[in-house]
Amino acid sequence: MKTLIFNMESDIELSEEDEKKLREAGEIIKAGGLVAFPTETVYGLGGDGLNPGSSKKIYAAKGRPSDNPLIIHIYRMEDLYKIASDVPSKALKLAEAFWPGPLTMIFEKKDIVPFETTGGLNTVAVRMPDDDFARGLIKFGGGFIAAPSANLSGKPSPTSATYVLEDMEGRIDAVIDGGKACIGLESTIVDMTVEPPMILRPGFVTAEDLKEVIGDVTQDATLMRCDVNQAPKAPGMKYRHYAPKGELTIVKGENEKVIQYINENINKARNKGEKTGVIATAENIDRYDAHVVKCAGSRLQNKEVASNLYEILREFDDEDVSVIYSEAFDEEGLGQAIMNRLLKAAGHRVVTL
Ligand code: TXA
Ligand code: MG
Repeated sequence: MKTLIFNMESDIELSEEDEKKLREAGEIIKAGGLVAFPTETVYGLGGDGLNPGSSKKIYAAKGRPSDNPLIIHIYRMEDLYKIASDVPSKALKLAEAFWPGPLTMIFEKKDIVPFETTGGLNTVAVRMPDDDFARGLIKFGGGFIAAPSANLSGKPSPTSATYVLEDMEGRIDAVIDGGKACIGLESTIVDMTVEPPMILRPGFVTAEDLKEVIGDVTQDATLMRCDVNQAPKAPGMKYRHYAPKGELTIVKGENEKVIQYINENINKARNKGEKTGVIATAENIDRYDAHVVKCAGSRLQNKEVASNLYEILREFDDEDVSVIYSEAFDEEGLGQAIMNRLLKAAGHRVVTL
């Protein structure tokens, strides 16, 4: 299969030319094909969410187990009621506050949503993305686009069309190239079928943001679980969702100690013939002595770190780095999403000094 590339040009207003491309891409979706597209979080791999055949194709293209459910993307509020059987008032408040945007909510599903899309569950995850190209594609593609992140299963989510093609070229019908996904981490997921609602995946919309709108929310207890101070376990597949090829270790503790520990261990690895890498904050970038040192951004600028993280993990793969150390980040606000992804990438391999 040859993967078509739609290069988008519009900046603020959608141009006629770009609208034409989105209509064409929408026809591919309606015909049961797959189109990857940009969103404000990461690129999605879209298919018709109400077509069981499309969902099957999505799982096949990603190499993803078919019991892992997909998010359905909508572009207007009225469509929520077509797929969700019960929309609690708290969900309406959250939609008002954060849609379109990086928030996914889980509802009881209606029969129209095939089990192929929900991985066999009676619930459906729904998101209204805030990206004109995404919204156009959803509109022209029939209104309900099932889309996981557009990476091969086990790789970091793609933040640009280049990374989508790296994983998906020849496996999907088309990709819409709309530039860099600005947030860089996947949406916050909140389960609205329980009371109080529960965060299943932290993201750009933080626990504090949610609490301001609907009061109490809880968190899945496993979100930040890590086996501090224990010898690294063989990372179970369960945890290594966003894994780089190299062995990644997160180092927590007082700044100078962290730098010293990382440099010592980088040296040891280098002497064993490993290619070494460090994920550093801007503040410490000149302090490391590895083959490859990547700047995640300033410790004071979470948004920068979030938007760089997946790209950095992919670059380490491209450069065949085999041993990687990362500084830890503050877990406040967006920092929780950053550390959640980093912990998964590291298979929860953490050293606390
Ligand atoms: O930002 C995002 O959410 C991106 C963009 C493309 O929208 N999408 C994304 O999809 O990250 P994916 O498939 O990579 O991650 C969706 C997560 C999975 O962990 C899945 O298990 C969970 O959402 N999920 C989906 N439906 C669910 C449901 N009904 N109940 C519980 N978890 C669900
Ligand atoms: Mg994903």
